[in-house]
Amino acid sequence: MPAGTVPLTDEGIVSAVCDAYTDIAKKSVHTAYAEAAAEAFGYTAEQLSSVPAESYMGLSCGNPVAVASIKEGETVLDLGSGAGIDVLLAAQKVGPKGQAIGMDMSTDMIDRARKNASKQGYRPPQLTQPLPLETASVDCILSNCVVNLLPDAGKAALLKECYRVLKPGGRLVVDDIIAKKQLPNAIRSDFSAYIGCISGALQLEQYKALMKLAGFIDTLFVETGGDLKVYESAGPTCGGVPSSSPSPRCCAATTSVLPQTIIGNLNELAASYQIYARKVSSDNGAAEKSPLALVRWWDAYPKDHLTSGEVASLLRDPDRSDYAIIDVRENDRVGGHILRSIQWRADTFVGSLDMFYDEYGKTKQVIFYCGSSKGRGSRCAAWYQDYLNGKGNTESKACVLEGGYYGWRYPDLVDGASSL
Ligand SMILES: C[S@@+](CC[C@H](N)C(=O)[O-])C[C@H]1O[C@@H](n2cnc3c(N)ncnc32)[C@H](O)[C@@H]1O
Repeated sequence: MPAGTVPLTDEGIVSAVCDAYTDIAKKSVHTAYAEAAAEAFGYTAEQLSSVPAESYMGLSCGNPVAVASIKEGETVLDLGSGAGIDVLLAAQKVGPKGQAIGMDMSTDMIDRARKNASKQGYRPPQLTQPLPLETASVDCILSNCVVNLLPDAGKAALLKECYRVLKPGGRLVVDDIIAKKQLPNAIRSDFSAYIGCISGALQLEQYKALMKLAGFIDTLFVETGGDLKVYESAGPTCGGVPSSSPSPRCCAATTSVLPQTIIGNLNELAASYQIYARKVSSDNGAAEKSPLALVRWWDAYPKDHLTSGEVASLLRDPDRSDYAIIDVRENDRVGGHILRSIQWRADTFVGSLDMFYDEYGKTKQVIFYCGSSKGRGSRCAAWYQDYLNGKGNTESKACVLEGGYYGWRYPDLVDGASSL
């Protein structure tokens, strides 16, 4: 966990924040702390019992789902979804006809959220920049204690992106820390306090200005009254971090190397706020019919990609037998299929994972493809990899054939057709 000063460049800040939350993601949750933080920021016992305990790490500063009026069938985006608490709560509300998308820059946080999601039968995507989302495609955006972690230019850019991807009339519900006064330089430059969501906190007027710049009119800011001192009574660890180390107790840290004389009473320096805004309904650029939100939805299933050249080399190598090539197309299997590939139906793949694992659990590389490898191929690969992870199996690995069958240029390595 980093100590020291806040990096000087925006890239440095983002990368250091990512490293810090990756460290937190790798550690086990300190249950007593997480429960105290949950209580302080308004999660109900019913909410918490409806999601895996590991999805709540005590990193929040509010409970956006409670006020977001999320309805069945909606598309909801959770920015900086961490271990998944809010996106999983949102997923319950939107149901199978809706979409709850969690994004985070820390792949370890994503891994954690994926594990929690797979316990509930969901599979969350990962964040790339800019937001890989269609304009006017999202009904509701949530964010819980994340915006303050971005450099100021990033805050402004993110809020603009939120405005872009929201449908007309769509809503933004952000829980965040806001500084009550100009923070002393010693705090602003302290990286532990930054990771703890304090140093990067804007003052109310600054936040209002950024919301306006992004396009949001009539933003409501409500101080939630959450007691930030809960972070001071966190117990021996938080996110597995010993409190004796010069590191933050998760969000809203006070345990930096700064002396208490500088920090004083945290509730006097900053406060947790809920920020509520809507995109105006009469936006001319708005799409009439909402598109599928994720632009490249297969990004939700990031996996190792092999080029067709690499797969062709495998097929030509007489000494290699430690791989399998799986064709998950069904009715569109025109023109034959890649030599020695095995067909396994994508639509029943999840239900047959046990059987699939019995067959391929010891195979070093299991390479999936479909027509383009952007849909069923990458989805099945991700499901198989999740399954392997669940079993703790590192012997086998899921891969995707880049470009799929459409990109295959080796007619001599095709079964069942004379040409491609
Ligand atoms: C304080 S935690 C909150 C996690 C979650 N919202 C919750 O309430 O449990 C902040 C999260 O935001 C993520 N984050 C911070 N900056 C980010 C950025 N620029 N892009 C994407 N994720 C970011 C971190 O990786 C971390 O998971």
